[in-house]
Amino acid sequence: MALTSDNSARPYSAPADAPIGIFDSGVGGLSVLRHIQQHLPQEALLYVADAGYAPYGGRTDCFLDARVLAIGDYLVQRPVKAIVVACNSATAASIAALRHAYPDLPVVGVEPGLKPAAAASTNRIVGVMATEATLRSARFALLREAISQTSGVRFVMQACIGLADQIEAGALDTVETLALLEQYVTALLDQGVDTLVLGCTHYPFVQAHIERIVASRGGAVTVIDTGAAVARQLGRVLAEQRLLRNGAPVRVTAVTTGSAPSLQQAFQLLLHQSIDVTPLDG
Ligand code: DGL
Repeated sequence: MALTSDNSARPYSAPADAPIGIFDSGVGGLSVLRHIQQHLPQEALLYVADAGYAPYGGRTDCFLDARVLAIGDYLVQRPVKAIVVACNSATAASIAALRHAYPDLPVVGVEPGLKPAAAASTNRIVGVMATEATLRSARFALLREAISQTSGVRFVMQACIGLADQIEAGALDTVETLALLEQYVTALLDQGVDTLVLGCTHYPFVQAHIERIVASRGGAVTVIDTGAAVARQLGRVLAEQRLLRNGAPVRVTAVTTGSAPSLQQAFQLLLHQSIDVTPLDG
């Protein structure tokens, strides 16, 4: 099925038995999907990797709106009962457009965990690792200002250009990936951060490397990932709408606008799961 959108609001409902659609530019959303599997094991999950258009992090808002609406249209036609935008960049740029197009559809997004980071920080200096699209967005600026005002925390932003691409390519432990991490994490540590927010869903897959870099500098830094909080929020939304599924767990299914074998390998490498992946025309 081709992905296009006509961008107008449409009424919508789907049964509790329908799957939950989860999407990202590529494999990053798997760091959210694993928490959803743990928290809501009875739910049927349909994962969409928009790898034919990855990475999202350096794209314009207009481009991201078009991709998010096209994927939204595809998912409601399946149909799904809810959508998780498992991508900070897509949430920041385009979750409002998706909610506007489908006001009746439960949509849960992913945002950098500034609030839990502010609560965890003792010196009130928090580093945020994210893509350019997330850091430049009005949505992120509003969140940052609101949390700064109430907590007194100073947020130091680091655009991690190229990092999601490395993770997308499965290059978790290469010299290039480690060099990028060293550069970005060190820049934040030099500014005195005691808490680090993983503001891109790809980054939890290199969290152990981030923690090693912090430890090698003799630091004690709390690392914040919001995957578990997103899964809990999804559970609350489904319960409110009486959309929780009963019954035996079912296998995840996945589609991609990129390479199906690559996404299959990513499920194996990152989550140790063998799944079937179907190609999707972009
Ligand atoms: N995983 C996405 C995010 O959370 C985007 C990474 C990318 O495609 O640049 O921002």
